[in-house]
Amino acid sequence: MVNAPTGETRIGQTEQVQSLDRDCTTLSRHVLQQLKSFSADAQDLSALMNRVGLAAKLIARRLSRAGLMADTLGFTGAVNVQGESVKKMDVYANEVFISVFQQSGLVCRLASEEMEKPYYIPENCPIGRYSLLYDPIDGSSNLDINLDVGSIFSIRKQEGDDADGSASDLLQHGHKQIGAGYVLYGPSTILVYSIGQGVHSFTLDPSLGEFILATENIQVPSRGPIYSVNEGNFWQWKESLRDYIRYVHRSEGYTARYGGALVGDFHRILFQGGVFLYPGTVKQPEGKLRLLYESAPLAFLIEQAGGRASTGTQDILDVVPTKLHERSPLIIGSKENVAMVESFIQDRSRNSRTVES
Ligand code: AHG
Ligand code: MN
Ligand code: MN
Repeated sequence: MVNAPTGETRIGQTEQVQSLDRDCTTLSRHVLQQLKSFSADAQDLSALMNRVGLAAKLIARRLSRAGLMADTLGFTGAVNVQGESVKKMDVYANEVFISVFQQSGLVCRLASEEMEKPYYIPENCPIGRYSLLYDPIDGSSNLDINLDVGSIFSIRKQEGDDADGSASDLLQHGHKQIGAGYVLYGPSTILVYSIGQGVHSFTLDPSLGEFILATENIQVPSRGPIYSVNEGNFWQWKESLRDYIRYVHRSEGYTARYGGALVGDFHRILFQGGVFLYPGTVKQPEGKLRLLYESAPLAFLIEQAGGRASTGTQDILDVVPTKLHERSPLIIGSKENVAMVESFIQDRSRNSRTVES
């Protein structure tokens, strides 16, 4: 029943009213609904999410035209703090996140995969309450072949003001996050976020230029058929991981899916269940993925959705980084699937075995 403006009650909701209400459930409104408050903090968080949405729209727009515009795809020729070759879209997307928070009064500091040190926005600092940590383009290897890529973000309270860029207050465990999410630039552009009250997905309606609520309170299945891992690294792993993959190969009901972009592989598992793994290798035991703006935000989401995220021996959200660009092994997804992987890793007898032929 809907109370009409005149105070009368309408008998039921017409189709039109329902769809209008849906079109009005934008990101900023949803944040306020979640917080059940119009306080200054709630308004700030709502405005911050709206800015993340603007960043996503700007990046989605550029990606949709990438093949038609000069200077959009391909490499810049530079190497970033990760030691990785930087793509032009990495730089563009990084700049977009900085630009949308200028003059916002919301975010004093941005820490990005693409920047060695955090970026301060001095005019925001006296009143800024938040730090934004982000991976501007996740899955860069997919960029030039028009496959799915994403952006990942994590929102923390700003607890320090070390202008020397040490960002020591960011070096805290993942439970300190007050919000996290990602954007998936696929056939449609989807934004998934949580501020600690469930995981919710929004779909960009290009005709409106708004992210509209699609699915609320997403719950990852307690177990699922998908295992997502780059098996090209098989012989670089510890024996226990190889044993887990052998177990999966011999078991009925598993299916392999690996897209090369963490956000896309994670999104599939969030909705269909299963496990994504990026284990450490003998040469790089800490693995490839970065804790503060890849693993920790996704760990925040998956736990909100009823799943788990682990290094194999420790919950991702409990890990305390020693440096901004710290890497960590990542096993993330359905509770039962993650527990299965951990059981292999924690069974010490396996790790001590020599490499089987
Ligand atoms: P990024 O593009 O931000 O560097 O992230 C790439 C990551 C992640 O998205 C993906 O899961 C993984 O790298 C793929 O690595 P491999 O190509 O080694 O499988
Ligand atoms: Mn990434
Ligand atoms: Mn990236």
